[in-house]
Amino acid sequence: MRIFITGCKGQLGRTLNDVLAGEVLAGCDLPELDIVDRAAIGAAIAGFAPDVVIHAAAWTDVDGCARDPERAYRVNGLGTQNVALACAQVGAPMVYISTNEVFDGEAAEPYREWDPIHPINPYGRSKAAGEWFVRHLLTRFYIVRTAWLYAPGGRNFPHRIIQLADERGALRVVTDEVGNPTYAPDLAQALAALIRTGAYGVYHLTNAGHCSRYDFAREILRITGREQVPVEPIPLAEFQRASAPPPFAPLANTAGAALGIALRPWEEALAEFLGQ
Ligand SMILES: NC(=O)c1ccc[n+]([C@@H]2O[C@H](COP(=O)([O-])OP(=O)(O)OC[C@H]3O[C@@H](n4cnc5c(N)ncnc54)[C@H](OP(=O)(O)O)[C@@H]3O)[C@@H](O)[C@H]2O)c1
Repeated sequence: MRIFITGCKGQLGRTLNDVLAGEVLAGCDLPELDIVDRAAIGAAIAGFAPDVVIHAAAWTDVDGCARDPERAYRVNGLGTQNVALACAQVGAPMVYISTNEVFDGEAAEPYREWDPIHPINPYGRSKAAGEWFVRHLLTRFYIVRTAWLYAPGGRNFPHRIIQLADERGALRVVTDEVGNPTYAPDLAQALAALIRTGAYGVYHLTNAGHCSRYDFAREILRITGREQVPVEPIPLAEFQRASAPPPFAPLANTAGAALGIALRPWEEALAEFLGQ
């Protein structure tokens, strides 16, 4: 298969390059190619003539998006429009990597693929705008929502917790933000299986199970032998940040599981990641 990956230098993009190494791959990322440049991304995708495009590029700085929503819409909304238009032009199906932050986090149980979206912050709104363009410009697409991604070498929660534990010796972590920690290599394997199915639609692919940021931090410290580091549980209201995350936004994998595509429990994946 010929696979074009946007955001190929990011956490998921790099992982996809490894997992899909047997395929014919091409990709793009900043600074060489900006997906906001419609002509440039159109030419890159048309020139490669892919069988499928995996669109993983995004402005993922959630607090940055809250400070500059226009830039968030430009990159995550209009940039996705450009990738979708390029896919339409070459007749390639598109995989759009989206987020649990398209939901408002007011649910009582994990969100299913068909639940109505209702983002509450600029990052979530910009990713929802991307979903809108994919749905309206293409008929052959996979919208794959995921959550709390981490990969070796990435900027992510496990690395940050370890760094802060070592620097400060004590942590304060929120209890009322709940999601699914997801190991990028597990997601990349699931995507590799999904793109072979032709079962277009909306998917929720995360490691199984969910937890609060507080539980996630405690597990990171436990696995890495730092359980003596004190962690104070705090509410979101006490954690000053630019973006307001959805409080309870774990995803339930129903559509992928029906195809036999499901990721292992988050604790197992985290133990493998931190054991490396
Ligand atoms: N990380 C998470 O917790 C998480 C959770 C749910 C969903 N997602 C989604 O999953 C996907 C992959 O996330 P990730 O963690 O791999 O993100 P990442 O590490 O930030 O990678 C995204 C890549 O896209 C690049 N990029 C940003 N703006 C671009 C532009 N205008 N043109 C071309 N490339 C651009 C980034 O470059 P720079 O680094 O230079 O900006 C980066 O290399 C994203 O679509 C994200 O929205 C992520």
